[in-house]
Amino acid sequence: MAGVTDFTFRRLLKRRGGIGMTVSEFISVEGMTRNSPQSKRMMRFVEEERPFAVQIFGANLDRMAMASEMAEEIGADILDVNCGCPAPKVVKKGGGSGLLKDLPLLEKILKEIKRSISIPLTLKIRSGFSNSDVNCVEVAKLAEQCGVEHIALHGRTREERYTGLADWDLVRQVKEAVSIPVSGNGDVTSVANAVARFKETNCDGILIGRGAMQNPWLFRQIHDALEGREPYEPSLQDKQDVLLEFFELLREDMPELPALGKMKQLAGQFTKGLRGGSKFRQTLYHSHSADEILENIGAYFDTLGRGEDFGGEQSDSDLDLEIGSCDALSNDAGFRAGGSRSAAGAPGVSRADN
Ligand SMILES: Cc1cc2nc3c(=O)[nH]c(=O)nc-3n(C[C@H](O)[C@H](O)[C@H](O)COP(=O)(O)O)c2cc1C
Repeated sequence: MAGVTDFTFRRLLKRRGGIGMTVSEFISVEGMTRNSPQSKRMMRFVEEERPFAVQIFGANLDRMAMASEMAEEIGADILDVNCGCPAPKVVKKGGGSGLLKDLPLLEKILKEIKRSISIPLTLKIRSGFSNSDVNCVEVAKLAEQCGVEHIALHGRTREERYTGLADWDLVRQVKEAVSIPVSGNGDVTSVANAVARFKETNCDGILIGRGAMQNPWLFRQIHDALEGREPYEPSLQDKQDVLLEFFELLREDMPELPALGKMKQLAGQFTKGLRGGSKFRQTLYHSHSADEILENIGAYFDTLGRGEDFGGEQSDSDLDLEIGSCDALSNDAGFRAGGSRSAAGAPGVSRADN
């Protein structure tokens, strides 16, 4: 996820267990092939993340192939092509879900990439560009013919953006139509949900986006359930530790201000549903230094440990920030070299009504 699944976030989650594969944020082939420093940053990964996929987006044949080669050169295990992003900036130039409208171009791109790399090529698609043209089965068959080795389907059209619920019956249909592995994606936020989706669709894997921000142990819990174990239940200490570890990893990687922004982003999602979480988030959003953040985390978990409410009465009308879609985030995805940062220093954080 653009603006979210960076080097730091991926490591944090991988360490919680149950993750089969990590994927970079989507990276613009325009940025990559012009050696944009931001794109280079987005390609970083460490051994503990493997198997690691670099996801690219774009629509220029030569640049798509060149960027794929670059991903292989830096040691990625898999090259993934994004055919799902609905952001106007991306679609206008033919990339992301725009490729679902131009299958001859998609075919050329996939064949050219296949010729350029020896690591597996995978595809992430939406169910179609518009509601009147749901073509994921056709796209999946085409991709298989071009040598694509895995399809991930987010069961919404571009037109639907993030509204309604993903249509998992389409995942079942795609799985039936091709012989390569198929993963489903969309709205998986619980163990029960994931187990049901596996059963209903016979899919080979599940991709989890937003659910991972609210529950970093979700992958491990699903894995436990699939192996017949009781799903791991994180303790209060685990929850405090994950925030502290995230902040430590961020501070190793970036200056204090952007680290604070990223911290607010994860903590905002992660403390949803926790007792007094809303008040805690308000406190975090008003924290202006690393020391303040660490102090507030300590105070919050101490209060929870004592079974008390943090900051007195709970409030629902807080400053909650939502990670609603990738629309507002394409600047953070190497779309433009040196993409912009929000004033709050919170890259990729947008209002819920975005
Ligand atoms: C903030 C944000 C950024 C995203 N960026 C990407 C991206 O870079 N590449 C991609 O394939 N999908 C991206 N997506 C889409 C998700 O991968 C996923 O398909 C979608 O959110 C539905 O799954 P979920 O309900 O598990 O979140 C993004 C979604 C969000 C919310």
